[in-house]
Amino acid sequence: MTGDSTRCVKAVAYEGSPGSPLQQGPVFAAPYLLGEDETGEADTYARASNPGWRALESALASLEGAVAARVVGSGMSAITVALRAFARPGVTVVVPADGYYQVRAYAQEYLAPLGMVVRELSVADFGDGTLRAVLEQAGEGAVVLAETPSNPGLDTVDLRATAELCRAAGALLLVDNTTATPLGQLPLALGADVVVASGTKSLSGHSDLLFGYVAVSDPALVARLDRERLHSGTVLGPFETWLAHRSLGTAGLRFGRQCTNALAVARMLGEHPAVAAVRYPGLESDPSHPVAAAQMQRFGPLVTFVLPTRDDVHRFVKAAELVVPATSFGGIHTTADRRARWGDPVPEGFVRLSCGIEDTIDLLDDLRTALDSVRRA
Ligand SMILES: Cc1ncc(COP(=O)(O)O)c(C=O)c1O
Repeated sequence: MTGDSTRCVKAVAYEGSPGSPLQQGPVFAAPYLLGEDETGEADTYARASNPGWRALESALASLEGAVAARVVGSGMSAITVALRAFARPGVTVVVPADGYYQVRAYAQEYLAPLGMVVRELSVADFGDGTLRAVLEQAGEGAVVLAETPSNPGLDTVDLRATAELCRAAGALLLVDNTTATPLGQLPLALGADVVVASGTKSLSGHSDLLFGYVAVSDPALVARLDRERLHSGTVLGPFETWLAHRSLGTAGLRFGRQCTNALAVARMLGEHPAVAAVRYPGLESDPSHPVAAAQMQRFGPLVTFVLPTRDDVHRFVKAAELVVPATSFGGIHTTADRRARWGDPVPEGFVRLSCGIEDTIDLLDDLRTALDSVRRA
């Protein structure tokens, strides 16, 4: 089995000449490139396809084990493009009740008025028979979006079992692979039909761009995605495309360190007296661990924990030299977000920590010292 860093480096190998310059993405239109070949094979207009996208898409497809990937302007675009491409009026669309909150808002505000039957299911509902009942009622053509590990709860959906349920019911299974990345889990190999993801997080990893992608296991799904992207115009700019491609080459190294740090931090948090509860799918004691261990190669950069109060969270972030307060995650810096601020149904002192690539021992020392100061306060 080729290692993750080798996969990343191989995935971004350019086919062109060494040192190819940034393709600023001319709006491929007459008079530049329209030749006598009128078959539509050539790059005619950058919103349909362009060389920069193709390099990034081929790298992402290779990492996800997909037949094809399509890049878009953000993770939310990936989700909304895929839902619009694959769901039709009248069908049931299942979205995570306890996943990324803006997806629920989109489904309720935009898909429901289009005549789709929007159902919100929690991770627990996927495994306890609720999803089966919803799919039985829904009939053919339902679209199910699973998010695992979920953000922010870090609960895991059993993807093999869910894929089987969906296949039997004639439903399409989409998996949001943002928190795990293809270096942590390969949903298509586990039976999913489509991966949607934000590349804004660990894949690009420097907290300096937004991008998203959709990857599919069946060539028959590609045309609908292409039409949706072309017509909705939800495109990734040339600079972000170039930057994301350049960043992917180091994703294996960065993600490896983030996951090592996250496990070490989760263990330390579990023993610290200021901490009430810790969640990390990589901890043997975590309720997510059995499913995570059966389907993930690595458990990701996110750890959550609970401090007694909201002020304790602010004290902790201020005291920690290596922790940056931020709501995104997956970057090279360790970041912390008090999720109750966004209305997530979690305790006031609930922290979602995204472990960066600092040296493990330094990060542990810094976090321990900051937590000690919270306890003394
Ligand atoms: C699980 C998940 N999916 C999708 C998104 C949306 O990604 P983006 O911010 O790139 O639109 C996020 C953002 O945090 C996320 O956490």
